[in-house]
Amino acid sequence: MKRVDDFRLRLGKHELVPIMIGGMGVDISSADLAVEVARLGGVGHISDAMIKTVSDRRYKTKFVKEKLALYKYNVENEDKSPVKFDLGKLVEATRLHVEEAMSRKKGDGMIFINCMEKLTMNAPKETLKVRMEAAMDSGIEGITLAAGLHLGSFALIEEHPRFRDVQLGIIVSSVRALQLFLKKSMRTGRLPDYIVVEGPLAGGHLGFGMDWAKYDLATIVAEVIQFLKNEHLDIPVIPAGGIFTGSDATAFLEAGAAAVQVATRFTVSEECGLPEKVKQEYFKASEDDIEVNQISPTGYPMRMIKSSPGIGSGIRPNCEAYGYLLDANGRCAYVTAYNREVALHPDARKISVMDKTCLCTHMRNFDIWTCGHLTYRLKDTTRKAADGSYQLLTAEHIFKDYQFSTEQKIALPE
Ligand SMILES: Cc1cc2nc3c(=O)[nH]c(=O)nc-3n(C[C@H](O)[C@H](O)[C@H](O)COP(=O)(O)O)c2cc1C
Repeated sequence: MKRVDDFRLRLGKHELVPIMIGGMGVDISSADLAVEVARLGGVGHISDAMIKTVSDRRYKTKFVKEKLALYKYNVENEDKSPVKFDLGKLVEATRLHVEEAMSRKKGDGMIFINCMEKLTMNAPKETLKVRMEAAMDSGIEGITLAAGLHLGSFALIEEHPRFRDVQLGIIVSSVRALQLFLKKSMRTGRLPDYIVVEGPLAGGHLGFGMDWAKYDLATIVAEVIQFLKNEHLDIPVIPAGGIFTGSDATAFLEAGAAAVQVATRFTVSEECGLPEKVKQEYFKASEDDIEVNQISPTGYPMRMIKSSPGIGSGIRPNCEAYGYLLDANGRCAYVTAYNREVALHPDARKISVMDKTCLCTHMRNFDIWTCGHLTYRLKDTTRKAADGSYQLLTAEHIFKDYQFSTEQKIALPE
């Protein structure tokens, strides 16, 4: 009987255990997690979502305070278009985070960074270019282009000296999205080095509508593999979303996938960036506690635990400090929804905004508990203590369970 360890992922000169841990912002897929996964021979991701905040928390910088001080005059203003990111500071924050992770790397695995196009940052092209180039300058080994179609992203970095040396991957949820991407990026003469196919059971934002439940990862993966075959393109395909056991992963590898991307099982690892009390919420969640809703201002459906404290909270937008979701014209769907509620309830001291959430502040504070569909099975992967709390797992334990287990078995910790 085959297991994941019978397969290898080849990327450039590297031969890897075919397990990639997906990017999880804001700092949920921490540098600690990525470093550990690389040590074990797989691919780990850090994320550049809200990197200035991450840098402040991890490396004692003051980026957020400085930005807020600069734009404090605008806090009461509905128009957020003047609130811009200082590109030099963005470079500095990216460098700190990437260099720190890369300097700690040991072993034969790799460390990539997850860059979401939907973090439009009030200047989508300029900021994305700077983010990707700073990561390449700092030695990142791969960039996974996520949350967005990324039709122009390769072109933004084609002049960079590492454009052909760094591994570049794309996340898609359909053959159609892949076709669009390939057509557009053909101009740069550069194909992606890997394609992550993310199905409807994934965590974070979904590349599907609210009819996500109609889709099935295995079917989409088979379509993508067939399409690439027809086009004579040899690009590794990496399925993601709901791959919970080593046997689930092996089934994809036997069907022609080059590796799998997983995330949810690692949310309860010691190395994961979520606070311990939130990890316990992930363990405790039942299937009914998890929903896909439309409160993300990005416009994409997002999966989360229903009791996330950020849902329905009517906090004042904090774009002067953060502002990662401001579009090219300085607008964010949460700012619009918040202003509407303020206008409707002029005398209220506290308002509630049900249809959108302030994703920046709430993700920063770990108050939106985004998760994969199979989060409700996490409790079956560990032991419960007498006080009702669940034992956290090491990333090594989870990684090796994926790598070596067979027959749908899940190894419990010592
Ligand atoms: C807590 C959490 C946060 C996530 N954040 C991101 C993100 O910032 N960017 C991204 O591309 N994918 C994100 N994802 C998706 C994962 O990278 C991954 O592709 C997917 O969740 C894999 O499915 P699984 O969680 O069922 O294993 C997130 C997933 C989780 C569970």
